[in-house]
Amino acid sequence: MKIVVVFGTRPEAVKMCPLILEIKKHKELECKICLTGQHKEMLEQVMDTFRIRADYNLSIMTKNQSLSNITSLVLSGLDEIYEKEKPDLVLIHGDTSTSFAAALAAFYRQIKIGHVEAGLRTYCMQSPFPEEFNRQAVDLVSDFYFAPTEKAKEQLLKEGKNDCNIFVTGNTVIDALRTTIVPDYSNEYLKSAEGNRVILVTAHRRESIGEPMRNIFKALVKIAKKFDDVRIIYPIHKNPKVREIAEEIIGDEGHIKLIEPLDVFDFHNFMARCYFVMTDSGGVQEEAPSLGKPVLVMRNNTERPEGVEAGTLKLVGTDEETIYEAAYALLTNEIVYKEMAHAANPYGDGHACEKIVEVVRNYAERINSSSNI
Ligand code: UD1
Ligand code: UDP
Repeated sequence: MKIVVVFGTRPEAVKMCPLILEIKKHKELECKICLTGQHKEMLEQVMDTFRIRADYNLSIMTKNQSLSNITSLVLSGLDEIYEKEKPDLVLIHGDTSTSFAAALAAFYRQIKIGHVEAGLRTYCMQSPFPEEFNRQAVDLVSDFYFAPTEKAKEQLLKEGKNDCNIFVTGNTVIDALRTTIVPDYSNEYLKSAEGNRVILVTAHRRESIGEPMRNIFKALVKIAKKFDDVRIIYPIHKNPKVREIAEEIIGDEGHIKLIEPLDVFDFHNFMARCYFVMTDSGGVQEEAPSLGKPVLVMRNNTERPEGVEAGTLKLVGTDEETIYEAAYALLTNEIVYKEMAHAANPYGDGHACEKIVEVVRNYAERINSSSNI
């Protein structure tokens, strides 16, 4: 059976590379890897970490790319690849524009689709934007739903998806974490922050660009000015719009270090050693709980309520004062900190990839035996 695995951004790569490594263990599964190149440097970092080479790269990224551009380039680019490869199954991840266009192109060609990380929802089309639309659209045309949690499965069932096509596997990001975290790790930025409490920050959401992101950065500056023993380290997303706002608000604030995106090995080990995390990232909300790190989620809602229920994530919105107060509480009140800083992993046992591959192999057997009739 031939599978085409498609992805194009950093988070998809972190979660699909372990799956590719698992697929490659099975000789009967022919696997072609197709990158859309929606991201460039940030995607290459992950491919290098997992030592995976792609068969195709559409290399579509341009500076300040628009959603329509990404979608149309991926749609037409993949259509040619699907035509040439004629896969039996396309595996897609998550909720990016790459995911949406990859699913649509496969649907138009009537190729079976497996959606990894299916069933996440906020049911608010504007937040996260455009991801809520993308994931609902991918799930509309998928044939196999790899849901990370029971909650995701419940949501799919409520939407009328067939129980037989939904598989609760855990999240492949836990599989990734199992391979990246090491006991001895050091890094120049951590060394330079020694003796201080490190807050690790990421922020990039499209719907936050503008006032909400200004507020987020103002809160960071306020924290940095208030606490002498705190160092904020922010591996900043490559998006020029994010960088512009960071420069405007954070500038050269001494206790905030803006650094280039870390490769995923460094980022995971960094996270494991920080005091807490402030983020608007989806993947980070899944990773930090299993590392026992409190996370302030700088968004108004989340499609990952499991971590909030487990107590490690707290939704703090994008208001400057609310963010500052939540960080202040974590930095000054040990009880508040300890309540959040316990390891809780709602995302499976780190064997999600094996479970997904098992489903794929069963499907391969089915199509094999029907073609032998
Ligand atoms: C995309 C996804 C988002 C995901 C995020 C992960 C969509 C609509 N958005 O958002 O769901 O959370 O990736 O990071 O699919 N850039 C570079 N080099 C890179 C990557 C990006 O220079 O390696 C710059 C480019 O100027 C690019 C811009 O960042 O135009 C924005 O990238 P884009 O993929 O459009 O949006 P993200 O905010 O990264
Ligand atoms: N990440 C990384 N380097 C960084 C910041 C994040 O490797 O400097 C990883 C992180 O561990 C997680 C993924 O990137 O696995 C999350 O990606 P991002 O925040 O860009 O996207 P989202 O998850 O919000 O879609």
